[in-house]
Amino acid sequence: MIVLILLILVAVLCFLYLNGTYNENYWKKRGIPFYSKNKYLGPLFEFLYAKQPGFQIMQSIYKTHPEAPAVGVVSLFGRALLIKDLTNVQYVLATDFNSFSHRGMEINEGDILADSIIFNNGKRWKLMRQHITPLFTSSKLKSMYYIIDKSAQDFIDYLKKNPQYLKGNAFETLSTFCSAAIGGSVFGVGTESIFDSPFLKMAQKASQFTLKMNFFFAIANASPKISNFFGIKLFKEHEGFFIDAIKQIIRARERENVKRHDFADICVSLQKNDVLKDHDTGLELKPTDEFLAAQAFFFFIAGVEPSATTMYITLIELGRHPEVLAKVHEEIDNTFEKHENITHDVLCEMEYLDMAINEAMRLHPPIGFVSRQCVQDTVLPVGNIKIEKGTTMFIATYGMHHDETYFPEPNAFKPERFSKENKHNFMDAAYMPFGKGNRICIGVRYAQLQVKAGLVHLLRNYTIRTILHDNEDEVKYKRELVQLRVSNADVEFIPRL
Ligand code: HEM
Repeated sequence: MIVLILLILVAVLCFLYLNGTYNENYWKKRGIPFYSKNKYLGPLFEFLYAKQPGFQIMQSIYKTHPEAPAVGVVSLFGRALLIKDLTNVQYVLATDFNSFSHRGMEINEGDILADSIIFNNGKRWKLMRQHITPLFTSSKLKSMYYIIDKSAQDFIDYLKKNPQYLKGNAFETLSTFCSAAIGGSVFGVGTESIFDSPFLKMAQKASQFTLKMNFFFAIANASPKISNFFGIKLFKEHEGFFIDAIKQIIRARERENVKRHDFADICVSLQKNDVLKDHDTGLELKPTDEFLAAQAFFFFIAGVEPSATTMYITLIELGRHPEVLAKVHEEIDNTFEKHENITHDVLCEMEYLDMAINEAMRLHPPIGFVSRQCVQDTVLPVGNIKIEKGTTMFIATYGMHHDETYFPEPNAFKPERFSKENKHNFMDAAYMPFGKGNRICIGVRYAQLQVKAGLVHLLRNYTIRTILHDNEDEVKYKRELVQLRVSNADVEFIPRL
């Protein structure tokens, strides 16, 4: 037995050695520099033992060859390329989408809650995206806005009744708001927003990137084949609870027959169609309760985690920059003086708050890098780089957001960068907290509304103080693969006089 294990180990090591060397030569032959620091296992595996978050490893690769349009890396059993040039980035995410429609991750059959838009690829992804997009049109968001605003107002009452939440673990406190808002938007709003919901605990658990989850994601990203071989299921433990909840909500909504303009409404109308069909490809999909639960499940995770992170990082930076905080307060107070209610349209007029959020997301993008996989041979225009089917493409969002070519003084918090006068096209191209192109975040506008509504009501009633632990002067992050989580800060909410 020991001999067998040793033989397997030697075979794996030989394979990794040959694969690393092959990849290095592969990219060098094409005139592309290679990330040789981790030539055999690549950045996704470097993450498993390094002290840095995965997106900062991607940033260091991004910085290694300042002049190169791309850097070759290993992706365990495959090859990968970190693309830097903005024309190539645009080419991969949008212009030649047909060659890069795959997210670079695959889920395994039977992983019911992972069967959502984000993890699907090809024709099935297209069909899903077509049918779920209508939930996020401007008119749908406008009619849904009352749910978000009510959650934000109820959140303030909740803080007033529970002053213990004003200090200590602000991220958790903001997550309770996000969970109530997304819960209302997905399932409908009751007479009161629910801040202590089992869904929040589930969403937090599902996106709590334990070592096991980070490992699963690294494997699914680095090699769908291995993930398939081990039958990795990402969200198995939440299936029973979540699918059951969605079934009950849909059945209740069918019985009630009232429109609430939320996701549950869409579920009921999709199920009336019996099958979803893509007329171009002929592909059909049955909108079963399980299928709809998978979509709602991901909305829940995205509506809580990255959304709460966005509020948190904005508040952290506002607390560190009193002059910016004063301007945000002024804008909010003026708006409340002019308008009785903060409607969708009123919220969208608040430009300075928008600039502050944009700048916080530039400094600390909640999702630190994105990936795609090439599904047919093609050529990247800048550098004339031939890309073969199967190559994974990494785009280092965090790296681009901190590149001084696009954002001078990249580590400074300057909302003015995002004013109408200062915004430049190249800056737009390098700024992508919600990704870009055909697979851009489907919930981008929803998320912006939720974050803004939460901040407007919070900052109308409270001012803030940012505390950086151990007298550090820099915001630091936890060791996560893709998600950005702050490790050394907190925010205190102080009632305004
Ligand atoms: C501030 C909060 C959020 C951030 C920063 C964020 C960021 C992202 C990013 C970076 C991507 C990948 C885009 C790409 O690959 O080009 C993504 C995809 C996605 N997001 Fe979000 N997101 C947020 C909130 C939401 C919300 C609230 C929802 C749903 C209600 C949502 C639904 C999705 C979906 C379904 C995808 C997959 C799109 C596809 O593959 O076609 N996100 N998001």
